Amino acid sequence: MRMYDIIDKKKKGLELTADEISYVVDGYVANEIPDYQVSAFLMTVYYQGMTEKELSVFTDRMAKSGDMVDLSAIDGIKVDKHSTGGVGDKTTLAVAPLVAACGGKVAKMSGRGLGFTGGTIDKLESIPGFQTAIPEKKFFDIVNTIGLSVIGQSAEIAPADKKLYALRDVTATVDSIPLIAASIMSKKLASGSDKIVLDVTVGSGAFMKNAEDAIQLAQRMVEIGERAGRQTIAILTNMDVPLGVAVGNDIEVIEAIETLQGNGPEDFEEICVEFASQMLYLGKIADLQECRDMVYDAIETGKGIEKLAEMVKAQGGDESYIYHPEKFEEAPYQKKLIADQSAYISAMDTEKCGKTAVILGAGREKKESVIDPKAGIRFYFKTGEYVEKGEVLAELYASDQEKLKDAVKYLKTAYQYSDAAVTPMEEIIGYVT
Ligand code: URA
Repeated sequence: MRMYDIIDKKKKGLELTADEISYVVDGYVANEIPDYQVSAFLMTVYYQGMTEKELSVFTDRMAKSGDMVDLSAIDGIKVDKHSTGGVGDKTTLAVAPLVAACGGKVAKMSGRGLGFTGGTIDKLESIPGFQTAIPEKKFFDIVNTIGLSVIGQSAEIAPADKKLYALRDVTATVDSIPLIAASIMSKKLASGSDKIVLDVTVGSGAFMKNAEDAIQLAQRMVEIGERAGRQTIAILTNMDVPLGVAVGNDIEVIEAIETLQGNGPEDFEEICVEFASQMLYLGKIADLQECRDMVYDAIETGKGIEKLAEMVKAQGGDESYIYHPEKFEEAPYQKKLIADQSAYISAMDTEKCGKTAVILGAGREKKESVIDPKAGIRFYFKTGEYVEKGEVLAELYASDQEKLKDAVKYLKTAYQYSDAAVTPMEEIIGYVT
């Protein structure tokens, strides 16, 4: 088999065989095929797409390029959740405890921040002592005992994706729907859960800027999951505004705690209840309406917050922070962004909101950058709301005064205004099953 012939065949729009696709993935991981040929291959996929069969084999080979985690030591149906990324997305921090409080099992491997989007692992590490790298046996034991554990993804999960993503990043081939679908689903298949609930975000703070593309991405991911024998559903959600009102690390943990106590922002609570209910339903805990009732009950009775505290304790963290979030120290510097006109907010560039958080130190400018857990933004008004001139639109937090000045200037450019009322996108846009 020759890589040249495979590129040429794909360029002409012909379907590749399973052997040809395996040859590309396996050869690239083994350093037997050079970057320039794989770059050309990725570009042909960008333009020609992939058939259902091609995508299924491509994803499967990527998943099998590293460890395939075996979760059979954990009793019951394991349901995973994954978001395609967003700003203020602390969903796992609230959803995993709610699912565990209602009898589900969550054995979750999460990632760090990617670009302007935050990562669950960075957020969890802002809880003093919390360990995100623990031995596999301990991970299984914690899930069996308390129902949930969230750890960092190990380097051995889908190494083909790591290598291909780095190449896509420098060859303008990141924004290809089949390549994104394979990248995400290879990691999900390798992570071992029986069932998967996907959060496909849509809008200015998401990879998918419009609903049509998001539906296509969701369909491709569901198709991959089903072909691999893992029941998968996708929920399309609004990322045209930051989720909740907090963006950062400490402040997102606090917002998740408040939500588990029933005092969270409405949009975030709606998303958490929906994802937790769908996960419980896929886990065959009860029918969907009963699952929703159970989740609301876990919030009202405090069973959800107890689960979060149990997980924090089991993973070496100081659980007193969960019951006393005021223990999280405030950032040394704060600055308010003041509205300079009276008007409706007609749009917020959510990617800019995420980039503002990165400028403040809440995300990474470079791979080796160190996260500042205290840095972040609290939004007081969002799209659709009316703001009076002089009111505080948002408050920014940082440990570095210079960063704060740059960030306030930049965040100001994220807002658009109108004189007439505007209706923001629904939180839940649709389902793909
Ligand atoms: N997230 C991933 O893991 N991969 C992509 O290609 C895009 C988003």
